Formats: sequence, C-alpha cells, structure tokens
Amino acid sequence: MTSDRLIAGNWKMNGLLASKTEVESLIAGLKAQPSKAGVVLCPPATLLAPFAALVRGTAVALGGQDCHFENSGAFTGDVSAPMLKDAGAAYVILGHSERRTLHKETSELVAKKLAAAQGAGLKVILCVGETLDERGAGRAEAVVHSQLETSIPDGTDAGALVVAYEPVWAIGTGRVASPEDIAAMHGFARSWLDRRFAGARVGVLYGGSVKPDNARETLGVANVDGALVGGASLKAADFLKIIAAA
Ligand code: PGA
Repeated sequence: MTSDRLIAGNWKMNGLLASKTEVESLIAGLKAQPSKAGVVLCPPATLLAPFAALVRGTAVALGGQDCHFENSGAFTGDVSAPMLKDAGAAYVILGHSERRTLHKETSELVAKKLAAAQGAGLKVILCVGETLDERGAGRAEAVVHSQLETSIPDGTDAGALVVAYEPVWAIGTGRVASPEDIAAMHGFARSWLDRRFAGARVGVLYGGSVKPDNARETLGVANVDGALVGGASLKAADFLKIIAAA
C-alpha cells in the first residue's frame, strides 16, 4: 500500500442537494476509519459549491467531470476550469468515454482541455480505454497508446496528472476486466508514462464496475494505483468499502 494511491468517485449525472447526506456519511466514515489513499468525489458541477462547504478541512477533495478549454466566453451550457476551481474543485475528469462517445470528444480536444485545466490549477484525471470491438480486433493497446499520445499535450505537469484506464465495455456493465488484462494494460501505461515523464511518476487508476466485492482483487493488481468508481460511489457505504480496500 502506498500513500500516493487515489480513489475517485464519479457521480456522473446523478445527485441532488439532498445527496449531501451521502457526503456527510462519507466524511464520517473516513473520520472513523482514515484512508491511506487520497479520496476525490466528482459530483455534478451544480453540487461542487455546496459540497465544498461540507468537505472543507476533511480528507475528501472534489473534482469536476469535464471542462471547456477556454476560461470564459460565449459557450452556452459549458463550464470552464477556473469556474470548477472557483466552486471548490481540486480535480477534473477529462476524456471520459461517455464524453468521447456521446459528445464526440476527440483526444485533440481533450488535450486542449487538459492544458486549460492545469492552467487553472486543477489536477487532471485523464480517462483512456478501448471499446469491446477494438479489444476484439486486438487493438486495445494501440487505442490506449494513441489516446495517451494525443490527449497529453506538451508542457503537461506530471505532478498534476493521473491516468484512469477504463475499458469502455466494463463501464456500468458489471463486467470487470480480468486481473491479467488489467495488469497488461497498466504495465503498458506505466512504461509509456515513465518514458514520457522521465523521473516523475504519474499514477494509473483502474475504472469500470469497481464494486466493494471486487475492489481488493482489482486494487491488488500490479501497477494499479487506485480506482475511478462510478455507480458504487453514489452510496457512501459502498464507496467506503472500496476506499478501505485501497
Ligand atoms: P462504473 O463507472 O464504476 O459505474 O462502471 C466507472 C466510470 O465510468 O468512471
């Protein structure tokens, strides 16, 4: 177990102000049983400011789920990195497969967002991962390689970057990649990142149906530095069990 482990919860488009009871339970649980891993919660942007008041002075940091690459301007419906920071976020998830698929985000666009996010003082959780078709075609590693290569721009600060390997077919499906597949991809990402950022260690999280009952095995795989958790982060009791497994 290392202290640079990270467990991040991605609430996606779930949660209302009333969900603050889950945040209160999370904080209480971490007080009772402190975590060696860092804990980040990424609620919808509307909940960042109210949740920031709750987590101040606790072990929980907040993150956004996406941001625009410009700091401000005529971009109806978008939220910028400085706005997330202003609302209390320390992190932002970028390049999640739901953004890449449903919003047609390319790695080139993600790279612009990454630069903007780090420019605003946010740490970035950069998601990469292949689809089932791509894995079936034997292209999983090539896809992740290309996403890493293109989504991380020149000038990126390794100290403010975490990568999350999330095979698209494992997200929200209850299907976790096998320990062998996870080990192979994390080993690949690890050596790519070590080459890209000589001397600085960028953590690699696993994401995709991480649950209390598979967390220990998944987090025990070589080169897995933590987890990005979707569905199971919505309930504090489940999220706490995953944090305890780190
Ligand atoms: P899941 O989502 O844990 O619900 O599969 C993970 C993610 O999309 O980050």
